Amino acid sequence: MVREWDPRTASSAEIASLLDTLNAVLAADLPQDPPWRESSLREYLSEVMPGERRISWVAQADPAPDGTPGPILGHVNVLLLGGIGVLEVLVHPTARRGRLGRELVRVAARRVWDEGFQSIGVEVVGDTPAVAFYEALGFTREYVETRSVLDLGAMEWPVLAEMATEVGAGYHVEFCPGGPPDDLIEAYARAKAEVRDVDDGELRPSSYDPQRLRDSLDTLHRRGMKPYIVLALHEQTGEVAGLTEVVVPAQHPTRADQYDTIVVRDHRGYGIDRAIKARMLLELRSAEPELAEVQTWNAQANEAMLKVNAELGYRPDRDWCEYSVDVAELVHRLDSQR
Ligand SMILES: CC(C)(COP(=O)(O)OP(=O)(O)OC[C@H]1O[C@@H](n2cnc3c(N)ncnc32)[C@H](O)[C@@H]1OP(=O)(O)O)[C@@H](O)C(=O)NCCC(=O)NCCS
Repeated sequence: MVREWDPRTASSAEIASLLDTLNAVLAADLPQDPPWRESSLREYLSEVMPGERRISWVAQADPAPDGTPGPILGHVNVLLLGGIGVLEVLVHPTARRGRLGRELVRVAARRVWDEGFQSIGVEVVGDTPAVAFYEALGFTREYVETRSVLDLGAMEWPVLAEMATEVGAGYHVEFCPGGPPDDLIEAYARAKAEVRDVDDGELRPSSYDPQRLRDSLDTLHRRGMKPYIVLALHEQTGEVAGLTEVVVPAQHPTRADQYDTIVVRDHRGYGIDRAIKARMLLELRSAEPELAEVQTWNAQANEAMLKVNAELGYRPDRDWCEYSVDVAELVHRLDSQR
């Protein structure tokens, strides 16, 4: 009952059924997270960066006696990028512990192997059954980040407005809904190339060169994810001294995702991190009236950024771990356990 599945050509009923399963998974594993909506879900599942490929499979229950297709109870997709396959697996809570998850990983791993990739990575949410699952399959933990969530309902807006102005002299802070303006793309890419203090996981590589940056912005738009950017410009040189990126996904527009925040090394110590993040929240308040929360991911060692986030009101929520496995070992293990 596991079959390859193309979200571009899938029926609307299948997309709706997958959404039901995704929301049942969220309700079971991350009950504080907002449920997803159908808007742009098909595009979210289909669109990829140039040069990347995503291959998906579903596990569908048998049809009802009247012929109505059964619900989608499991889903796996693997994103082939660079030298690695990034895996995402979902099993409906009512269908768990029946080895469906293992079968989905087996099918995807075999394809990754056939495609000549050597390694598989996966993001695993702390305190959920996925931890024991991936460890049982031989994955090892590479990296842990903390996800933190900011509740905009509890925000002291006048305090934030004050923070947004507290930036050193010689910097100009600018809000860019949709992405950086074209004349700043190169300076923006240079700042990203300097990336050190990122709010982002390694499975979502940053865009270092202008073309990759444009492609990455296009891909976000096509996936129904609206990027917002706040820049700190160094007036004397016109360089991008700092940037912060937030994405509001059509699939869960009440909770936005903080992507990269970067302050270029030479411009640290002038309050840029705090000021650009504060300005972003102030702008989002009017640009996205539905928005209630923002989530961000930080390396636990990144004390400076954690401190600023705490001042803004972010509260640590969960561990967010990266696991990986050698594909050959995984395929061998799963085939021998069939
Ligand atoms: C992780 C997940 C895919 C597992 O699916 P599953 O069909 O229940 O997994 P399987 O039955 O194939 O389990 C394989 C092995 O993993 C381990 N395992 C799975 N769930 C486990 C649990 N809750 N506790 C302990 N071990 C577990 C066991 O060793 C199991 O083998 P066994 O049943 O022979 O002991 C499923 O729980 C899921 O969809 N979780 C959500 C994942 C996700 O991406 N969430 C993101 C948003 S929260």
